[in-house]
Amino acid sequence: MESWGRCWLSRAGRLWVSCNEMAGGRKVNRRALSLQAALGNPCILPLQIVQGGLFKKHKIQLTYSARTSLAEAWNKISFTGQLFSTSHTTVDPKEMKKFQLLAHKWWDEQGEYSALHSMNDIRVPFIRDIVLNMRNDCPLGSPLSGMKILDIGCGGGLLTEPLGRLGASVTGIDPLEDNIRTAELHKSFDPVLAKRIQYISCSLEDLVEETSETFDIIIASEVVEHVADVEMFLRCCSEVLKPEGSIFITTINRSQLSYILGIVVAEKVLGIVPAGTHEWEKFIAPEELERILESNGFSVKTVKGMLYNPLLGSWSWIRSTSINYALHAVKSCAQEQSGPSEPPLETHKAQLQTEASIGSGC
Ligand SMILES: C[S@@+](CC[C@H](N)C(=O)[O-])C[C@H]1O[C@@H](n2cnc3c(N)ncnc32)[C@H](O)[C@@H]1O
Repeated sequence: MESWGRCWLSRAGRLWVSCNEMAGGRKVNRRALSLQAALGNPCILPLQIVQGGLFKKHKIQLTYSARTSLAEAWNKISFTGQLFSTSHTTVDPKEMKKFQLLAHKWWDEQGEYSALHSMNDIRVPFIRDIVLNMRNDCPLGSPLSGMKILDIGCGGGLLTEPLGRLGASVTGIDPLEDNIRTAELHKSFDPVLAKRIQYISCSLEDLVEETSETFDIIIASEVVEHVADVEMFLRCCSEVLKPEGSIFITTINRSQLSYILGIVVAEKVLGIVPAGTHEWEKFIAPEELERILESNGFSVKTVKGMLYNPLLGSWSWIRSTSINYALHAVKSCAQEQSGPSEPPLETHKAQLQTEASIGSGC
């Protein structure tokens, strides 16, 4: 059984198609592929889906010309026997309403986002140290210089700014325009950030239509628990990340403990975050996140538990990932994706140990 994901026409006249396929009861994402758009109509091109050494042929009917708009092309393209939807999005309008109410509160360190402010104490060194360990050329004082980072769901820029100060060139995106306005305003207070950070109000899937394999690093901090479709979200992440690029995610596990501490205690008893901020059903277990990442060509390197102490207002690393956790994964390069995807277990363990020892020094 197959399902077609998004299909889009780039400015360069290429048609991009992605598709999911059921294999042995498992949903496998086939990497999006590009076809040079045929100019003139109509024509039928064979479409090859390539992954893991498998070649599959599908027929794709293109009946558009270079001057046809994207919307018209969507209407005219037909896959043999398949319907596909372009209305699908990762943005959940209910979530947008919640964030809209707090769009001017991002930089109030004692306010609703205080826990995100203090999370910087551990998440910034986590990202910095892993990146430093992976590169062997980096100017002193600017450990992230030369790195192109995409901060997805950047909100008011709480994490975007420190990454910019570490020398990275950061693009912060958020579907909510008011968040981006707050982020822009705050950025303007520090001239160092003017050239290092750009903010765009758009969804990830909007960006995918314009961009492919552009960023060295993707950050999705406290975002995946708010998106409407995690699989699509991570597929889009893979699209915009360069081969061998890194993705850093922080999020909340879907466990009994996270329900008690994350929703009952944090929202209803202590009011650390506003009531209704989180829906437990949207939390995701690390194993599930790893599975989706690996089916999208990522190799998971580190998963670490995080704990918030509401009395001290501070975060620390813990072994257990049963409440909050941070994850680092690397996108396999093209050749690896068409070969066996799993690294030998011993290599994988060694990588995990190396990274764990870096993280514990943060
Ligand atoms: C809890 S905030 C985290 C903000 C920021 N990453 C941080 O840690 O400071 C979640 C953010 O994700 C954004 N968001 C929600 N759904 C999204 C989606 N589908 N794509 C991108 N961003 C999204 C929200 O607008 C909000 O700014």
